[in-house]
Amino acid sequence: MNQTKFQTALITGASSGIGAELSRQLAPMCERLIIVARRENRLESLAKEISERLPMCQVFVEKLDLADEKARIEFSNKIKARSLVPDLLVNNAGLGDHGEIATADWERLRRVVEVNVLSLLHLTHLFLPEMISARRGLVVNISSIASLIPLPEIGVYAATKAFVTSFSEALRIELAGKGVEVTAICPGPIRTEFGEVAMRPDVGEPIRNPSFMMMPLESAVREMVGALTKRKPRYIPGVIPRLVMMIATTLPLPMLRAVLGLGYRARRRNVR
Ligand SMILES: NC(=O)c1ccc[n+]([C@@H]2O[C@H](COP(=O)([O-])OP(=O)(O)OC[C@H]3O[C@@H](n4cnc5c(N)ncnc54)[C@H](OP(=O)(O)O)[C@@H]3O)[C@@H](O)[C@H]2O)c1
Repeated sequence: MNQTKFQTALITGASSGIGAELSRQLAPMCERLIIVARRENRLESLAKEISERLPMCQVFVEKLDLADEKARIEFSNKIKARSLVPDLLVNNAGLGDHGEIATADWERLRRVVEVNVLSLLHLTHLFLPEMISARRGLVVNISSIASLIPLPEIGVYAATKAFVTSFSEALRIELAGKGVEVTAICPGPIRTEFGEVAMRPDVGEPIRNPSFMMMPLESAVREMVGALTKRKPRYIPGVIPRLVMMIATTLPLPMLRAVLGLGYRARRRNVR
């Protein structure tokens, strides 16, 4: 049993997938849990489930569209007014858009960048001053292995995650010695609602992840919780995703381009 205790954990994107499972697994370590997403009914049933299992953990539900800048500011003001500034901030909410960039719907691309990049940056920026003055805090950013190499057909998503990993590394260095730490988690493929959301409504072309890379949700999140409690700077859950990424990120760039290009052209041939 892990002894780490957080006073207030704030987890975004808790209505589904990784965020919901993180909420379940982190709850025993938290006095208070603030779970955030747009689908309030999902959050309410998760809050009920956690409260029944762990009456000592107080769960607050916050319905919030993270793509709305004004709503983010109002949310942070409310949290500060209630003295609920988190000492664990998990920036997990995120989405993708699967398909070629040239044919993407602009509104979908804008939303991917707004949620994956701007809302993560904004929430962190809003809560950092209080975390620094309390000399206490952990920021966990859920990035992706997609942040480590460019990925055609999910290129904008991969680029947003490259921001998340790079931002987390820089922030960790700036915060050293200030009592606030930063962990970037870079998961490989996990079965959640992510694929469904990333699928364009007009095309219906699913993301094809190699099955040997897939990880079950519960064990992937268990590894994430282990990594964040150890304050690891960056962590890829799963031995196979770690190995694959070790190879991919050490390939010379011209070779990586050739491999990615071959895969892309083969997939396009199958689609046509
Ligand atoms: N699954 C994977 O294979 C995988 C791999 C690597 C990284 N990741 C990352 O893991 C994180 C969680 O993804 P997941 O796989 O758990 O996907 P998911 O099941 O689709 O969950 C995404 C969560 O983000 C929330 N969200 C999306 N847009 C939002 C908005 N505008 N405002 C507030 N909340 C919003 C959703 O809540 P509402 O719709 O209720 O608002 C939902 O709770 C993402 O950052 C994703 O990029 C996933």
